[in-house]
Amino acid sequence: MNNILTIAMPKGRIFEEAADLLRKAQYQLPPEFDESRKLILDVPNEQIRFILAKPMDVATYVEHGVADVGIAGKDVMLEEERDVYEVLDLKISECHLAVAGLPGVKITDVAPKVATKYPNVASSYFREQGEQVEIIKLNGSIELAPLIGLADRIVDIVSTGRTLQENGLVELEHICDITSRLIVNPVSYRMKDQQIDDLVERLSRIIGGV
Ligand code: PRP
Repeated sequence: MNNILTIAMPKGRIFEEAADLLRKAQYQLPPEFDESRKLILDVPNEQIRFILAKPMDVATYVEHGVADVGIAGKDVMLEEERDVYEVLDLKISECHLAVAGLPGVKITDVAPKVATKYPNVASSYFREQGEQVEIIKLNGSIELAPLIGLADRIVDIVSTGRTLQENGLVELEHICDITSRLIVNPVSYRMKDQQIDDLVERLSRIIGGV
């Protein structure tokens, strides 16, 4: 095993906050890091390789060991069971999972339709509530579903609440709070313990967890 630490970073909205956190932890990331369209970025002086993945795929790279560690939203971790260690709450990209829908709509169906990117989270939530629903899996723009009659409700991430508001939807139930987590491949955790401990320690200091 080499001594380069491979970190899977999520592209998109978590990326900026994660890069900011790493810089605060004194990792010397090149300025082009944030702008680049490259999917593999080496930072040789830090002995780090970054791979840029879709947020939903970060845990896949880590589970398969092609990335030693990764930054993944708790929403993704709840949705898919993965053989990885979740070692640190990075306390970034705070948001929550919620049930939402059009205001004042009475649902009379025996099994109302729920559109979501998170079918497992949604199924277990409604099961716990003792509610029967039909889950419709979508990959994005979930808020569209109630507007065009595809679903009665949605289960989705709410961050600022703007998407709900601008589409005339309201939050109906709060499911759980979400932040991003540092996840680690179990084998890497043993083989690259010093590098990973160093990363965890430096990040913890910034987050205020230690
Ligand atoms: C997420 C989520 C909501 C929106 C919430 O979508 O699915 O649509 O952000 O953010 P807000 O409360 O700040 O408006 P994302 O932008 O990741 O894109 P997607 O619709 O493709 O999932």
